[in-house]
Amino acid sequence: MSGTSWSQSGAGVTRSSVRPGVLSRLVGAVWSVEQAVEGLLVDHWTPNRIPDLSGKLALVTGGNSGIGLEVCRKLVENCATVLLVSRDKQRGEEAAAQIRASLMSQGGSGPGSGTISERIGRIVVLQADLLSLRDVQRLIGEVKRHTREAGGLHMLLCNAALFQPGAHAVSSEGLEQTLAVDYYSHVELTLGLLEELTRGSERGGGARVVLQASQAEAFGSLDFNNLKASRPPVGDKFTDSGMSAYGSAKLWMLMFAEELQRRLRAGGGAAARIDVFGVHPGLVDSPLMDKADTQRHLNAALLVMQNMFLGMPTWRGSLPALYALTEPSLAGKGFQYIGPNWFNLHMLGVRSPGSRLWRTGGPELRSRLFEETASLLQQLGHPPAHLPKPAAALAT
Ligand SMILES: NC(=O)c1ccc[n+]([C@@H]2O[C@H](COP(=O)([O-])OP(=O)(O)OC[C@H]3O[C@@H](n4cnc5c(N)ncnc54)[C@H](OP(=O)(O)O)[C@@H]3O)[C@@H](O)[C@H]2O)c1
Repeated sequence: MSGTSWSQSGAGVTRSSVRPGVLSRLVGAVWSVEQAVEGLLVDHWTPNRIPDLSGKLALVTGGNSGIGLEVCRKLVENCATVLLVSRDKQRGEEAAAQIRASLMSQGGSGPGSGTISERIGRIVVLQADLLSLRDVQRLIGEVKRHTREAGGLHMLLCNAALFQPGAHAVSSEGLEQTLAVDYYSHVELTLGLLEELTRGSERGGGARVVLQASQAEAFGSLDFNNLKASRPPVGDKFTDSGMSAYGSAKLWMLMFAEELQRRLRAGGGAAARIDVFGVHPGLVDSPLMDKADTQRHLNAALLVMQNMFLGMPTWRGSLPALYALTEPSLAGKGFQYIGPNWFNLHMLGVRSPGSRLWRTGGPELRSRLFEETASLLQQLGHPPAHLPKPAAALAT
C-alpha cells in the first residue's frame, strides 16, 4: 500500500480516552432501559426471537471485533455454523474463544439442537485481508470448501470496514483503501459466492445477503471517471481517505445491494429467493472510532466526542444486522434498508438512503455502477465469478 497507512491514532482523540469504562457502563444501562421501553412502544424484536439456525452456514466479515463479533456470538448461540472472517488470524481466534467462553458460561441453555460442545465446534476462523482482491479470491476458495459440507451458504454479512484511516492511500491493486475494503472486496466476495448462496437458498428455503452501511452514505459521491480514486485530481472529493471515501463506499454498497436484488429477482430460480438487505447500526461505541485518524480528520474527532454521550453498546448496534439475517418474516421481502433514525431510536426502521444520488439517480445509475464495478474488477484481474444480468435485459 502506498501513502500513509491506517493508524491506531495513538496521539489523537480516541474513544477510550474520552469515554472511561464507568461512563460506558452508564451509557450502556441507559440504552438497555431505552431498548425495553422502545420494545413496548414500537417493535418487540429482540435476538430472543432468532429462530433455531441449526444446519445454516453464515459468513461474517469483520467478525473479530465490535458489531461483527456480536453478530457471530448470537448466530452461534442459535446454532448456526459461523465462518468468522478476520484480517488477523490470532485476533480472530481470540474472538472465537470469547464466543466459546460466553456459550460455556450459559451452561448450554439456549434455543436449537446440539450440545454445547457441538455448538462450540461451529465457529471457524478464516483469515483474509480485504484490502487485497487477491486475498478475497483466496477467501472465496476457502469458503467453498465449507459450503460443500453445509449444502451452500445461507447468510452473508458484509460488515468489515475502514473508517477515516488517514491520508489518501491505495491498495496493491490501485484502489483507494477505504473503497477497497468497504466496497470492492464485498462486491467481489458476494458475486464470488452467488452459486453457494443459490445452493443455500435452494436447500434451505432462502438465503440472505446483508450489507452493513452507514448514515454516512448521505455524504457519498460518485464519479464514473474516478471509481478507483487512486490518484485524486485537484478539487476531487477523494483528497484523503476520509469521510468522502467512507460515505461513497457505503452509498455504493447500498446501490449494489438494491441492484443485485433486482437482478436476482428478475433471473428467477433459486437465486431469486436470495434476499439482499442494507442495514446500518446507528452510532455505536465500538473500536471503529479508535482506528480513525482523528488528528487528520476533524469530523472523526467530533464523532468520537458525540459517541461519548450517544454511542450505543455493540449488542444494540448489532440488532439491524441480526434482524435482517434471521427474521423469518423478512423472507421474500426483497431489498430494504434497515436501521435506527438519527437519534439512534427505532432500530429496525425501514429507511431510505439520504443521498441525493440515491433519489435522483434511480435504477439506471445503480445498474451502471454495478456494471462498471464489475468491469473494473475484471480489468484488475479479478472478474466476479457470477454476474447476474440486468433486469431489463432479462425482460426482453
Ligand atoms: N460504530 C459505528 O458507529 C458505526 C456506524 C455506522 C456504520 N458502522 C459500520 O459497522 C460495521 C462494523 O463496524 P464496528 O463499529 O463494529 O467497528 P470495528 O469493531 O472496527 O469492526 C470493523 C471490522 O472490520 C475489520 N477490517 C478493517 N479493515 C480490514 C481489512 N483490511 N481486512 C479485513 N477486515 C478488516 C476490522 O478488523 P480489525 O479488528 O483488524 O481492525 C474489524 O473486524 C462497519 O461496516 C462500519 O462501517 C459502524
